[in-house]
Amino acid sequence: MPKTIGLICGSLRENSYNRIIAQSLIDMSNTAQFRWIEINDLPLFNEDLEIGGALKTITSFKSAIQGVDGIIIVSPEYNSGIPGALKNALDWASRPRESSVLSGKPVGLIGATPGGLGTVFAQMQIRQILEAMQAHVLPFQKVLISQVHEKIDSDQKVLTDEKTKQYLQRYLQQFIHWIDHTPVLD
Ligand SMILES: Cc1cc2nc3c(=O)[nH]c(=O)nc-3n(C[C@H](O)[C@H](O)[C@H](O)COP(=O)(O)O)c2cc1C
Repeated sequence: MPKTIGLICGSLRENSYNRIIAQSLIDMSNTAQFRWIEINDLPLFNEDLEIGGALKTITSFKSAIQGVDGIIIVSPEYNSGIPGALKNALDWASRPRESSVLSGKPVGLIGATPGGLGTVFAQMQIRQILEAMQAHVLPFQKVLISQVHEKIDSDQKVLTDEKTKQYLQRYLQQFIHWIDHTPVLD
């Protein structure tokens, strides 16, 4: 059975480089199916909103996560950290605690920036946050794409850099392997 992978982009920007990178995963894969999981419609997290039943946007978002075998987050870095919209989405996914949908879920992390450090600080934070939710983040491998603006065709909105394509291809294979071998939580 081909794996179904949910893609979450940490940028809400229309011409987001990170979204182009995420789209390249869809374009290069013939072994997995992909579904976009959007985070732009989620309200700001507020525990008061949990009272009296979940909101439709939240239940749809959480069902989308539940419905895939694994999630790949492709995110920029803002001020050496996780973008607020992505943190908000992860907080919603984790609540209520007994129905935290990322618990036990295989997750891969990719980040792209026009800068030189490839979103390393954001990824450290995202990993820490996901581990707090007991998500199974693919260990060891990092995809830190620097100078991303030189690696894509902005007009066509496609990744053009061959080395990055090959690296992403390998990462995708490793992630699919990780889905199959992720430890089961009691
Ligand atoms: C508020 C803000 C803070 C940023 N901070 C960083 C940063 O800490 N490190 C970095 O590499 N790029 C930083 N950038 C630049 C982003 O990498 C750049 O805007 C990138 O294009 C955002 O990703 P996107 O194209 O997917 O939207 C920042 C951008 C914004 C808007």
